[in-house]
Amino acid sequence: TNFSKTRLCWQLYQASTSQRLTQTRQFRVAVVGAAGGIGQPLALLLMTNKLVTELALHDTETTQGFGKDLSHISTVCKVKPYFGETELKKAIDGSHIVMITAGMPRKPGQTRDFLFDTNAPIVARVACLVAKRAPKALVGIITNPVNAVVAVAAEAMKKAGCYDPNRLFGVTTLDVVRAEKFIGEHMNIHPYDVRIPVVGGHAGTTIVPIFSQCQPPFEGDEKCIAAIVKRIQTGGDEVVKAKAGKGSATLSMAYAAARFTNALMRGLKGKACAPECAYVQSDATDAPFFSTPLSFGKDGIKKNHGLPEMNESEKKQVKVAVDALKKSAAKGVEFMKK
Ligand code: LMR
Repeated sequence: TNFSKTRLCWQLYQASTSQRLTQTRQFRVAVVGAAGGIGQPLALLLMTNKLVTELALHDTETTQGFGKDLSHISTVCKVKPYFGETELKKAIDGSHIVMITAGMPRKPGQTRDFLFDTNAPIVARVACLVAKRAPKALVGIITNPVNAVVAVAAEAMKKAGCYDPNRLFGVTTLDVVRAEKFIGEHMNIHPYDVRIPVVGGHAGTTIVPIFSQCQPPFEGDEKCIAAIVKRIQTGGDEVVKAKAGKGSATLSMAYAAARFTNALMRGLKGKACAPECAYVQSDATDAPFFSTPLSFGKDGIKKNHGLPEMNESEKKQVKVAVDALKKSAAKGVEFMKK
């Protein structure tokens, strides 16, 4: 009968669909601090990335509501909400990537470093759990001050007996994103067409955009470069000021973190991807952690491309950055000794 034919077709369709879904299972990404200003838009962006098929959302407060909300989006990604200290383990278990956004944002007049006392213990706790529960996971740290808390995470993971420098990243993608945007606006070209390494760290003068390597070549004099460098270095402050006490960059940071997560996942899949800069353990300079362009593979960093060629002015800026970054890393190590 027509009815049984329809039923047969439907069963065949379902069988082929479920087969496709099994074949396309990709990565589980955990967002820690998922209910926060960065966590929520980051979760939304990851939800729409085909490489994410399971999204674990964790925060100290419940993630049930916005997890349910996200779970209605018609992608194959499964949403797993978790909350509270006891469920952090469950959120981390089985994750290929853990993105840490937990902690406090700064207020007008505060530096990122001001957040250290509040955010360092949070990062230490999460890093320690990742080392114990998901030792192969790639870890992206968005929580500020990135320059110091990446060292905290490294020490916490060493203490927990599982630290792999190829798998721990301070996310500095927003500095690159800002550079692309401001240069694109200045040169009247699409920001997607701008390529520029931004090396160093993620605060003030530790952020060093290498204009001499900009592609297409930057059009503008020294004064113009200095002005855009300054704007990139103070991009975070610009947003903090505009939000007038209601936090720091969340949407642009989520965009940047989603782009970085995508690059990590492409690496895990063995797919090609343009290098991305991130703040990692490095011997490119005297600073223990330093951001340079990286390529990713199945085990995190596949190749650290090191410092690009630089002009004299850029070399001087890197020197300033290195001195500050050594201090930031030492602060992180010192904290973990206590
Ligand atoms: C940023 O660069 O916007 C973030 O690091 C947040 C901040 O505090 O500036």
